[in-house]
Amino acid sequence: MRGLLLSFALALWLATGASAQPAPFRDDMAQRTLACTVCHGREGRAGPDGYYPRIAGKPAGYLYNQLLNFREGRRHYGLMAGLLDTLSDEYLYEMAQHFARLDLPYPAPHAAAFPAEVLQRGRELALQGDAERRIPACAACHGKTLTGVQPNTPGLLGLPRDYLNAQLGAWRTGQRRALPPDCMGEIARRLAPEDLSAVTAWLASEPLPKDAKPVAAGPVPAKAAPRRKGRTAQPAAAPEPPPMRCGSAQPPVAGTGR
Ligand code: HEC
Ligand code: HEC
Repeated sequence: MRGLLLSFALALWLATGASAQPAPFRDDMAQRTLACTVCHGREGRAGPDGYYPRIAGKPAGYLYNQLLNFREGRRHYGLMAGLLDTLSDEYLYEMAQHFARLDLPYPAPHAAAFPAEVLQRGRELALQGDAERRIPACAACHGKTLTGVQPNTPGLLGLPRDYLNAQLGAWRTGQRRALPPDCMGEIARRLAPEDLSAVTAWLASEPLPKDAKPVAAGPVPAKAAPRRKGRTAQPAAAPEPPPMRCGSAQPPVAGTGR
């Protein structure tokens, strides 16, 4: 325990010691999460080498679920999990909301050094899936533009290929898990190794659309989907229901802390 507190203090010291001009002390979330941005890059826009993931701008529910996953052992990174051990669900959710609200530019995609067939196969899996292997299109859940869907599904563009490979690999081996039903574990195991490689190659080389924010989920508002007699067809804008169920924790209700 003392070791963990020490690593927290050290991370905080590193963060504040790194700026030449000491900023006046503000007790706000940006200040309190400096220990996080030591690893996750300035304001959580990712570390320099594809190892420390971007957290800025990802959906709050997704980030909150990941913090729970690390704290409860469904994902593993000791140096970080140690920081979360003593924090309440409410505080984890506050941090998640803080990072989710940040709207920061993404790095340019990596110029792809992959054969055209590989990229074509990756694109097909991402946008159409593969019915024979029972792999739904990534876009069916991660959004048409793959920028994520509120509140629990992250975007897949603007992430380094190494990170994507590591995460899908971890799901295949059970090193990374989500709350059941763990749809991503199922999907990662259905992907043949060459398909996994193709889809991450395509995702990492695809530029982000202008609006890279996660889109709102959910049913079309009643007004946009009038039900007329004799017409059962859904309007073109209606999002398809997700092809598989995915588990996630609900955000905590304020004031019911553990
Ligand atoms: C010592 C470095 C380090 C520190 C400090 C750290 N993290 Fe992390 N964090 C990581 C690494 C590495 C990963 C990715 C691990 C993996 O591959 O699963 C990660 C993953 C995450 C994820 C999941 C990202 C995603 O897209 O799935 C979130 C959310 C996160 N960290 C938030 C935080 C917060 C909030 C703090 C501060 C309380 C923090 N981290 C402190 C290294 C760190
Ligand atoms: C049935 C819905 C669904 C489909 C289809 C789906 N995903 Fe996901 N994906 C999710 C959800 C939900 C999460 C968040 C899981 C969690 O909370 O850990 C996720 C998370 C991820 C992550 C982790 C991102 C990060 O920042 O760590 C990757 C990578 C990923 N999906 C890749 C894919 C790929 C590639 C495909 C297509 C082959 C795909 N997904 C298809 C629902 C889906």
